[in-house]
Amino acid sequence: MLQTIGSLSTPFDTLSKCPRNGRQLRPAPLCHAQVDAAYQPGLAGLEGFSHLILLYWLDQSGSTDLVFTPPFERGLGAAPRGVFASRAPWRPNPIGVSVVAFEGFDGPGRLRVRYLDCVSGTPLLDIKPYLVTTDCEPEATMGWLEPHATCS
Ligand SMILES: C[S@@+](CC[C@H](N)C(=O)[O-])C[C@H]1O[C@@H](n2cnc3c(N)ncnc32)[C@H](O)[C@@H]1O
Repeated sequence: MLQTIGSLSTPFDTLSKCPRNGRQLRPAPLCHAQVDAAYQPGLAGLEGFSHLILLYWLDQSGSTDLVFTPPFERGLGAAPRGVFASRAPWRPNPIGVSVVAFEGFDGPGRLRVRYLDCVSGTPLLDIKPYLVTTDCEPEATMGWLEPHATCS
C-alpha cells in the first residue's frame, strides 16, 4: 500500500492557478518538497544530484474517464485521447510525476525544487535521483502531443 512521505509546497493554491506543466512558467518559481521526519533518514546522499524525480498523489482529481478530449484540443475536431497516452491528472491511479531541479535544503527534510505544476499541499509519494545515463532520451518522440509541446 502507498504511504505519503511528505507534501509539496508551491505558489499555486488552487488547481486553476497551476501551470499546465512544470516548465511553462519562466522563470520557474521556487517550490519545496517537505519530507516527514520519519522518512528524513532516506535523504542521506541526495546532495550533489542536480535533478530529482518526484512522484506525488494528485489528490484533487475528479473524473477517471479513460478517454477524453484534452482542453487545448476542444473544438478542433481532435480524436479522443486515452488517459495512458496523456499526462492528464485524472487517471485510475492519480500519480503525478515531475523532473525537478534540486537546489539543496532550506531546513530539515525541506528540499528547494523548481518545475512543479501541482497545487500546494499535494501529497508526496517518493523521491528518486534523475539519472542522465538512464532517464534521458534526447531522440524521444511525443506522438499526438508533438504539435502541443508547450501545452503538455
Ligand atoms: C497535466 S497535469 C501533470 C501532472 C504531473 N506533472 C504529471 O506529469 O504527472 C498538471 C495539472 O494537474 C492539475 N493538478 C495539480 N495539482 C493537482 C492535484 N493535487 N490534484 C489534482 N490535479 C492537480 C493542475 O490542473 C495542473 O495544471
